[in-house]
Amino acid sequence: MDVVDERLGIRALEYPVPEHANNLAWSLGGITAASFVVLIGTGILLAQFYSPVPESANQSVRDLVTDVWGMRFVRGLHFWAAQAMYVTAALHLIRVFFTGSYKRPREGNWLIGVAMFGLVIFALFAGTVLKWDQEGYEALGHNLEVAELLGGAGLWFSAGFSSRVSILVRLYGAHVVVIPGLILVLFTWHALLVKRHHISPHPSLTADDGAEQAPPAEPTEPFTHHLRRIAALGLALTGVLAILAVLIPPAVGPEPVEGIEVTRPPWNFWWMFTLENWWGLPWIAYGGGALFLLLIALPFVDRNPHRSW
Ligand code: HEM
Repeated sequence: MDVVDERLGIRALEYPVPEHANNLAWSLGGITAASFVVLIGTGILLAQFYSPVPESANQSVRDLVTDVWGMRFVRGLHFWAAQAMYVTAALHLIRVFFTGSYKRPREGNWLIGVAMFGLVIFALFAGTVLKWDQEGYEALGHNLEVAELLGGAGLWFSAGFSSRVSILVRLYGAHVVVIPGLILVLFTWHALLVKRHHISPHPSLTADDGAEQAPPAEPTEPFTHHLRRIAALGLALTGVLAILAVLIPPAVGPEPVEGIEVTRPPWNFWWMFTLENWWGLPWIAYGGGALFLLLIALPFVDRNPHRSW
């Protein structure tokens, strides 16, 4: 251990963190990161067999699950890990909201979190399009219509943006490089800021509601214990996702047919499509935009230092 520590400095991770950081609710960010690790591993494997051009994309997905040993399972794990990341990131956001952890000095880290949440949603959308079946094609169709409504702001999403590279290839680039790369950079910043500000105080433990730090009286544990716990929770989650991947593998339909609308959007987007059903297509953009504007505005509007919800 001493030999390794002298060269890699890993004992620097043994700094103390307050005990409440180990609660399940306060571990949700770490569990989100664990799902992201599963997504990267399974995504790299999928990329060895997926063909991102419109002529063969759909067939390549159907072939990889039937012809390549283990890939049906890997695809299932990738799909379920994406669902897990969406759910745990949302639960983590809700925890941060209800414990007032977005308040001074953590406003910047809240905004980094909002950006990562947007990227998770974008990755889900792009992933849905990649399989190039009816569901994916209709998801893209909707997006192109919204892009048209946005005018210049939606130009990148429009089919006419590049005459040589199809939008499927561009979405593939976003899905496998740009989005995960941005999440990695933002997550590094996010985690460094958690270390710098320390984890926010537990609302029930602070004598003074406005405190920015856990009270010195709260017992601490080395951060390495927290990491061990996140690794254990991440493994348990992966076990559950593996069972789901076997029992409920994600579907992939045949090649899409143009000009019809017969599929339901993935459940992650239902809230947006409800708005569309009520008030029309532009509300996909207005609804999504309004939610993100509210999230961005929150720490600037709520200046009350009290953390109890
Ligand atoms: C999407 C991927 C995300 C990952 C991997 C992630 C990861 C983490 C981790 C590991 C922590 C340490 C504490 C904990 O686990 O609760 C944390 C804290 C924090 N996160 Fe996230 N997060 C993500 C998204 C978000 C979102 C969507 C928000 C809010 C909009 C957010 C805001 C914060 C804030 C303000 C803290 C500091 C909380 C405190 O000190 O109690 N994060 N994040």
